[in-house]
Amino acid sequence: MPLLLTFLPSYDKIKKNQHRFSKNRIAYYTSCAVTRTNFANGQNSSITICAAAGGGMEIIMAKIKWRGGALIAPLPPVMVSSGDMENSNIMTVAWTGIINTIPPKTYISVRPKRHSYNMIKESGEFVINLTPARLVKEADYCGIYTGAKVDKFEKCKLTKEPATEVKCALIGESPLSLECKVTEIIPLGTHDMFLADIVAVDVDEELIDKEGKLHLEKAGLAAYAHGEYFELGKRIGKFGFSATKKKKHRNSPKK
Ligand SMILES: Cc1cc2nc3c(=O)[nH]c(=O)nc-3n(C[C@H](O)[C@H](O)[C@H](O)COP(=O)(O)O)c2cc1C
Repeated sequence: MPLLLTFLPSYDKIKKNQHRFSKNRIAYYTSCAVTRTNFANGQNSSITICAAAGGGMEIIMAKIKWRGGALIAPLPPVMVSSGDMENSNIMTVAWTGIINTIPPKTYISVRPKRHSYNMIKESGEFVINLTPARLVKEADYCGIYTGAKVDKFEKCKLTKEPATEVKCALIGESPLSLECKVTEIIPLGTHDMFLADIVAVDVDEELIDKEGKLHLEKAGLAAYAHGEYFELGKRIGKFGFSATKKKKHRNSPKK
């Protein structure tokens, strides 16, 4: 069946048709073609239109192409403490992650205008405090107000606890804190990236079982995705589970 692309659907129409996409159904199409629409705002869409075996055409997939953007999700909305036990500050950071295993290395990307920026730059130290869902309001507060004007430890009623390897205070209510020493500052554009060694980890003892195993799933950690906070939900697998063979039952018949 010849494929005639005589129309370009509107953005609304593309969206409405997105739910019709199903991988299993591709087998029933006789031919497919991709078309592109450029929108005035710089976005463009790529639409796959297929001719069905029984006649007619159907849009089976629509992607809207945007300019490059910071859109990885979910991210951890961590609370970064800096300074020392007397002069401490907290800022919320989502641009963070692990970048090496041995030695353990992390980064935080911070805008130079943040009050925390100079505190971290001058001391070369910071602490990453993981945020559980029960502390999300505090984390949000620490991500809106500046330590130049408010004492966020006091306002959020968070407890300063001494770290072992750095002078910064840990947030006592956080289930896990990473003590970090800056090794490099990389200017990237809007943000400067503080590369750091993780020199100690402080874990809430309630998360460690008798065998010494860490149960981070019990911390009820929060996630940040495109401007919204979420609580981690049900476990849906574990590392390597896709390759794990099912154990044979001892009494099952041999094939
Ligand atoms: C969820 C969330 C994530 C944030 N992530 C970052 C980040 O990665 N880097 C950054 O520079 N600012 C980030 N901010 C903004 C700072 O936390 C905010 O400007 C804060 O008030 C800075 O505090 P300070 O001036 O006391 O250092 C984030 C804010 C929120 C609410």
